[in-house]
Amino acid sequence: MSLPSINPTTTKAWKKLSNHFNEIEPIHLNDLFSSDEKREDKMSIEWKDFYVDFSKNRVSDTTINLLLELAEEVKLKEAIQLQFSGEKINQTEGRAVLHTALRDFNAMKPEVKETLQKMKLFSEKIENGTWKGYTGKPITDIVNIGIGGSDLGPKMVTETLKYYKNHLEVHYVSNIDGDHVAETLKNLNRETTLFIVVSKTFTTIETLTNAITIKKWFLENATITDVPNHFVAVSTNEEKVLDFGISNENIFTMWDWVGGRFSLWSAVSLSTCCAIGYTNFEELLQGAHEMDVHFKETDFSENIPVILSVLSIWYTNFYNAESEVVVSYSQYLSYLVPYLQQAFMESNGKSIDRNGEKVDYQTGTIVWGSTGTNAQHAFFQLLHQGTKIIPIDFIGFSESLHGNKEHQDILIANLLAQSEALAEGTAGTSIASPFKEFEGNKPSNTLLIKKLTPKNFGALLALYEHKLFVQGIIWNVFSFDQWGVELGKKNAQQTLNAIKERSDSSIENKSTKNLLNQFLK
Ligand code: F6P
Repeated sequence: MSLPSINPTTTKAWKKLSNHFNEIEPIHLNDLFSSDEKREDKMSIEWKDFYVDFSKNRVSDTTINLLLELAEEVKLKEAIQLQFSGEKINQTEGRAVLHTALRDFNAMKPEVKETLQKMKLFSEKIENGTWKGYTGKPITDIVNIGIGGSDLGPKMVTETLKYYKNHLEVHYVSNIDGDHVAETLKNLNRETTLFIVVSKTFTTIETLTNAITIKKWFLENATITDVPNHFVAVSTNEEKVLDFGISNENIFTMWDWVGGRFSLWSAVSLSTCCAIGYTNFEELLQGAHEMDVHFKETDFSENIPVILSVLSIWYTNFYNAESEVVVSYSQYLSYLVPYLQQAFMESNGKSIDRNGEKVDYQTGTIVWGSTGTNAQHAFFQLLHQGTKIIPIDFIGFSESLHGNKEHQDILIANLLAQSEALAEGTAGTSIASPFKEFEGNKPSNTLLIKKLTPKNFGALLALYEHKLFVQGIIWNVFSFDQWGVELGKKNAQQTLNAIKERSDSSIENKSTKNLLNQFLK
């Protein structure tokens, strides 16, 4: 069965929302609060360790009801069922979308269980030092060689959960820029380093080139028979991995029903699993699964991913907001935004709908952001006094991990104060200068989570995955392919041939020709 393919702008709810927008748009958030005493209670959801407050959005109860009507009308419920039941909803690639199956311990596919078991045994050996390098020394460093989903997810989780990390040092090489690989290798000891080549397809030029360079570097001191102790791979493409020279027992499988940007729940996170230990990795999966159950089973009005998603549709399609900011008040989450950028922008950056027609409404959100409080001293000026409407997700943890209460209190005070200032502005206070006035009325969600644990973090990531799924369903686009990256890859191959031949004769584009000649000078 295929996904429903309803143009959202043709629904009754969309028309009602358009009319409703004209009514609500002029109303300031301060008035929305003063006209409804229970607003902050009604517009918040408590779920396990999460408290999600969406009261500081430019919406009324009617808006939320209409947005949920829209979700019903585009058949979101059926779409969720189709995803979880393993239908081939990634239609343009003929694949199921089952990253959720990687974290469902109650109904786990045997091949997933087997791979998890293999990850467990392997990571334990690396951690306890029984896996030896070619001179008999235990592994001290792990290098993950991958790009896109084969880099951003594991790198981000390793960084976020580094409080739970063991003695192993993990490095990530992604860019084809030779300086990246050189900088990574310069302080590494071949005898004690493990390389994990991660590529779903095992055809990605950056990853393969980096892997070949690293293998050559390794063989400067070691021999080919030492390779199995130092090189393992994660891929769906066994044949290509074997061609590269990695032995069968060192291959960790993944499957075509797991998209690259949704693959951190698989062996793609082998580096993370080694660094934080299998138990913590499993907790991450458990947390994500709990969010899956919440998403699948909770009424839309109490469903965190659904609510956050329809709010995002509200701003994108009715307020013409072009981007969204995510600000995490935890330095551990400093790699969250690049990960979310791939997740959201590779998934929903589409302009052809599920009927093959060009859309005449906005899709996709530009996601950007940073950590707080740092961001307050960088781009918050524009959020407070700029001309654009940019909805914000504030993410904070009630407890700090190292327990420095003084710092934690200042940190969370800032989070709360920023969302308040953005919403309220300086209305009602007498300000002498227009330059010092704050309009307020700037929307935000606050996600207050008890503590940064692997479980809670798994749930947070799954929340965002489901948010983008809901957006894609409403926008009527296919969220699980990424054809838009192909043309650039093809052109790069042609340009590379021209560079190797040191001739511009095969290049037609005048600008590229000119730039190429500058490069070849
Ligand atoms: O080119 C985009 C992309 O296909 C991403 O979707 C993917 O995460 C990345 O490249 C890496 O792909 P692979 O894991 O196959 O090397």
